[in-house]
Amino acid sequence: MGFAAAALAVLLTMQSGAAAQEEDQEEAPRWVTLGDDYMPEYSRRGADECMRCHGDEDSAHLNAVFEGPHGVMADERTPFGGNQCEACHGPGGDHTGRIGFGEARPPMPAFGPNSPWSEERENQVCQDCHKEQKHGFWEGGTHQRQDVGCADCHDSHVRRDPMTVASTQSETCVGCHTEQRAQLHQAYSHPIRQGEMACSDCHQPHGAPNEAMLSSPTINQNCYECHAEKRGPFLFEHAPVAEDCTNCHKPHGSNNPAMLTRRAPLLCQQCHSRVGHAGIGRSPNDLPSGNPSPFLLSGSCTSCHSQVHGSNHPSGSILNR
Ligand code: HEC
Ligand code: HEC
Ligand code: HEC
Ligand code: HEC
Ligand code: HEC
Ligand code: HEC
Ligand code: HEC
Ligand code: HEC
Ligand code: HEC
Ligand code: HEC
Repeated sequence: MGFAAAALAVLLTMQSGAAAQEEDQEEAPRWVTLGDDYMPEYSRRGADECMRCHGDEDSAHLNAVFEGPHGVMADERTPFGGNQCEACHGPGGDHTGRIGFGEARPPMPAFGPNSPWSEERENQVCQDCHKEQKHGFWEGGTHQRQDVGCADCHDSHVRRDPMTVASTQSETCVGCHTEQRAQLHQAYSHPIRQGEMACSDCHQPHGAPNEAMLSSPTINQNCYECHAEKRGPFLFEHAPVAEDCTNCHKPHGSNNPAMLTRRAPLLCQQCHSRVGHAGIGRSPNDLPSGNPSPFLLSGSCTSCHSQVHGSNHPSGSILNR
C-alpha cells in the first residue's frame, strides 16, 4: 500500500510539473518503479541464506514461522517444503546479493514495509496455495474491495495464527472496527471478550453473499444457529421477532440488559401506542394519582407480556404466558 501511495504521488506530480517530478524521482528509492512484475532470481540456499542476516536477536520474533503450519519441511505443500521464506516473500536474489557501498538493499518483492508488490499481488501469493479462499466469496467481498489483505488479519510469523483462536481473533478485528470494540465493552454483550465466542461465529471474514458478510443468509437464521428455541413455530408469533431480531437487540453489545436496543417500556412503545395502557396511575375516583401506572412498573411491559418472543400457550394471544 505504501508503494501504491508513492506511485500515485509520482503520478500526480507528473501531471503538475516536470520539476517537481524530477525532485520526487531523486528522493524515491529505485525499486519504487519495480511493481508487480519485479521478479528477480531465487536466492541459492533458501532459508539458510536469509538466516545469515535475519538470524540475529533482532529477528528472533520471525523464527516462530518454523513452528507453525507453514514450517513443515516434510510436507511439500507448505512453504518450507518448497521455496521456504521465498515461497511467501517472492524471489530474493537481489535482496540477498552484494550491494555497493552506500547503496540501499533492494527489498523483498512481497510483505514488509518496503515491498514493491501491490496488496493484490501479495494476496495472490497466499491464494496460490489457499485456493478455497480465492474461489469462495473473497473477490467482491467487502474486505477485498476495501483493500484489506490476507496479511492484515493473518500473522505468518507466529506459532498459532491468532485468527484461528477465539480468544485472540477479535483483538485484530476490533483494531479496525472500533465501533464494535466499544460495543463489546458495554455492560451486556456476547461473550467475545471472554474468548468464548469469535467474530467468525457470525461473520465470514473472507466474504459472503449475505448482509454484513454474515455466515447465514439472514440475520434471524444466524441467531437461530445458537438460539434455536427462538425460532418457534409459535401458536402466537410476535411479528417483529420473526422479522428481525435486531428490531430489539444489538448483536455486539449494549448497555441495556439482554443487549436490547432500548429498555421497556420505550422499547415496546416504539411500535405500540400508549392507548389502552394508561401511562399515569389513577386514583380510585379515576383521577391522575401522581404515581406511575402499574403498566410501567418494574420490568414494565414484560412483567405481564413475558413471552415476548412468541407463545405456545392456548391462551397466550397477548404473549403473557
Ligand atoms: C545480506 C543480508 C541479508 C540477507 C541475506 C537477507 N536479508 Fe532481508 N533484510 C536485510 C536488511 C539489512 C533488511 C532491512 C532493510 C531496511 O530496513 O531497509 C532486510 C529486510 C527484510 C525484509 C523487510 C522488508 C522490507 O522491505 O524492508 C524482509 C521481508 C526480508 N528482509 C526478507 C528476507 C528473506 C526472505 C531473505 C532470504 C531470501 C533475506 N531477507 C535475506 C538483510 C538481508
Ligand atoms: C507463510 C508466508 C511467510 C513465510 C513462509 C515467511 N514469511 Fe516473513 N512475512 C510474511 C508476512 C505476511 C509478513 C508481513 C507481516 C506484516 O504484515 O506485519 C512477513 C514479514 C517479514 C519480515 C518483516 C517484518 C518484521 O517483523 O521484521 C521479515 C524480515 C521476514 N518476514 C522474514 C522472513 C524470513 C527470513 C522467512 C524465512 C525464515 C520468512 N519471512 C518466511 C509471510 C511469510
Ligand atoms: C506454498 C504454499 C503456501 C503459501 C504460499 C501459504 N500457505 Fe498457508 N498453509 C499452507 C499449508 C500446506 C497449510 C497447512 C494446511 C493443512 O495442514 O491442512 C497452511 C496453513 C495456513 C493456515 C491455517 C493455520 C492454522 O493454524 O490452522 C492459514 C490461516 C494460512 N495458511 C494462511 C496463509 C497466508 C495468509 C498466506 C500468505 C501470507 C499463506 N498461508 C501462504 C500452504 C501455504
Ligand atoms: C478480515 C480478516 C481476514 C482476512 C482479510 C483473511 N482472513 Fe483468512 N481467516 C480469518 C479468520 C477469522 C479465520 C478463521 C475462520 C474460522 O475460524 O472459521 C481464517 C481462516 C483462514 C484459513 C484457515 C482455513 C479456513 O478457511 O478456515 C486460511 C487458509 C485463510 N484464512 C487464508 C486466507 C487468505 C489466503 C486470505 C487472503 C485472500 C485471507 N485468509 C484473508 C480472517 C481473515
Ligand atoms: C485492516 C483493517 C480491518 C481488519 C483487521 C478487519 N476489518 Fe472488517 N472491514 C474493514 C473495512 C475497511 C470494512 C469496510 C468499512 C466498514 O464497514 O467499516 C470492513 C467491513 C467489515 C464488515 C461489514 C461487511 C459488510 O458488507 O457490511 C464486517 C462484518 C467485518 N468487516 C468483519 C470483520 C471481522 C470479523 C474481522 C476479523 C476477523 C475484521 N473485519 C477485520 C477493515 C478491517
Ligand atoms: C452474534 C453474532 C455476531 C457476532 C459474534 C459478531 N457480529 Fe458483527 N454483526 C452481526 C449482525 C447480525 C450484524 C448486522 C446487523 C447490525 O449491524 O446490527 C453485524 C454487523 C457487523 C458489521 C457491520 C456494521 C455496519 O454498521 O454495517 C461489522 C463491521 C461487524 N459486525 C463486525 C464484527 C466484529 C469485528 C465482531 C467481533 C468482535 C463481530 N462483528 C461479531 C452479528 C455478529
Ligand atoms: C455462535 C453462537 C451464537 C450466535 C450465532 C448468537 N448467539 Fe446470542 N448468545 C450466545 C451465547 C454463548 C450467549 C451467552 C449465553 C449465556 O451467557 O448464558 C448469548 C447470549 C445472547 C443474549 C443474552 C445476552 C444477555 O446479556 O443476557 C441475547 C439477547 C442474544 N444472545 C441474542 C442474539 C442475537 C440477536 C443473535 C443474532 C444476531 C445471536 N444472539 C446469535 C451465542 C450465540
Ligand atoms: C420485540 C422485541 C424483541 C425481539 C424482536 C427479539 N427479542 Fe429477544 N428479548 C427481548 C426482551 C424484552 C428480552 C428480555 C426478556 C426479559 O426481560 O425477560 C429478550 C431476551 C432475549 C434473550 C435472553 C433471554 C432469553 O430469553 O433467553 C435472547 C437469547 C434473545 N432475546 C434472543 C432473541 C432472538 C434470537 C431474536 C430473534 C429471533 C429476538 N431475541 C428477538 C425482546 C425481543
Ligand atoms: C418493531 C415493532 C415492535 C416492537 C419493538 C414491539 N412490538 Fe409488539 N407487536 C408488533 C406487531 C407488528 C404486532 C402484531 C400486531 C397485530 O397483529 O395487530 C405486535 C404484537 C404484540 C402483542 C400481541 C397483541 C396483539 O394484538 O396481537 C403484544 C402483547 C405485544 N406485541 C407486546 C410487546 C411488548 C411487551 C413489546 C416490548 C418488549 C413489544 N411488543 C415490542 C410490533 C412490535
Ligand atoms: C399489569 C400487566 C400488564 C402490563 C404491565 C402491560 N400489559 Fe399490555 N396487556 C395486559 C393485558 C391484561 C392485556 C389484554 C387486555 C387489554 O387489552 O387491556 C394487554 C394487552 C396488550 C396489547 C394488545 C393490544 C390491545 O390493546 O388489545 C398490547 C400491544 C400491549 N398490551 C402492550 C403493552 C405494552 C407496550 C406494555 C408496557 C408499556 C404493556 N402492555 C404492559 C397486561 C399488561
